[in-house]
Amino acid sequence: MRLEGKSALITGSARGIGKAFAEAYVREGATVAVADINLEAARKTAAEIGDNAYAVKLDVTDQASIDAAVKAVEDRTGGLDILINNAALFDLAPIVEISRASYDKLFSVNVAGTLFMLQAAARSMIAAGRGGRIINIASQAGRRGEPLVAVYCATKAAVISLTQSAGLDLIKHRINVNGIAPGVVDSDMWDEVDALFARYENRPKGQKKRLVGEGVPYGRMGKPQDLAGMAVFLASSEAEYIVAQTYNVDGGQWMS
Ligand SMILES: NC(=O)c1ccc[n+]([C@@H]2O[C@H](COP(=O)([O-])OP(=O)(O)OC[C@H]3O[C@@H](n4cnc5c(N)ncnc54)[C@H](O)[C@@H]3O)[C@@H](O)[C@H]2O)c1
Repeated sequence: MRLEGKSALITGSARGIGKAFAEAYVREGATVAVADINLEAARKTAAEIGDNAYAVKLDVTDQASIDAAVKAVEDRTGGLDILINNAALFDLAPIVEISRASYDKLFSVNVAGTLFMLQAAARSMIAAGRGGRIINIASQAGRRGEPLVAVYCATKAAVISLTQSAGLDLIKHRINVNGIAPGVVDSDMWDEVDALFARYENRPKGQKKRLVGEGVPYGRMGKPQDLAGMAVFLASSEAEYIVAQTYNVDGGQWMS
């Protein structure tokens, strides 16, 4: 087991990709805080995973909630070794229709949430003095713009940039900060994405999702479990010398 005895906190892990990370981490020997704004769903997920997973209420847009979640992990496990910044929101609109409310909401969760969660985790790890791992979930959307997806793309470009700066700043404390950029992953989020494309591109429901899946060089959309190997690797001792990178795990969608 590659994460034996490690304590991890995974934001937005009540469902989707975060849930797959939590399952994989527990299989590798870690104890995982399933931290989500939806506490009921987090409890259900933690119970499904088993004794080494527990639910924590977390709203990454609220500093008091971030601090309380990190403290809950410290109290329960004696310290935080691994953070995965996974929680995020998606929205879609043509440039001329983007609202300030949508912009503020996405930047608050995807960017400020990532930064201040990362900061709280780093403070805890520095105080404990035993290093740590922070993994930020970006997206292929952070590698380039898309006509209807300006705000989400900008938030994910910011996540890649924050990963670089935090990676360079925190490695002196032996905290490795890296990122993963998924492509298109079949999760509840993509069902919501498909419904938005159906509205703005005048398509039948399900069509966009089918087409993006067919467009992946591997031949299908990703599954949440397809991301787990990289998340385990980046948290393991094998990744000790990897700093400030964001890796594409996307079936061949993007090369950079
Ligand atoms: N699904 C994809 O195709 C895809 C592609 C590229 C990147 N990603 C990224 O992967 C990550 C996970 O995506 P997913 O598809 O599993 O998403 P999802 O919407 O299925 O899950 C997101 C989780 O985050 C939680 N959450 C939302 N706001 C929160 C907040 N303020 N505080 C704490 N938790 C909050 C939700 O309750 C939910 O459980 C996200 O960062 C997403 O941007 C997804």
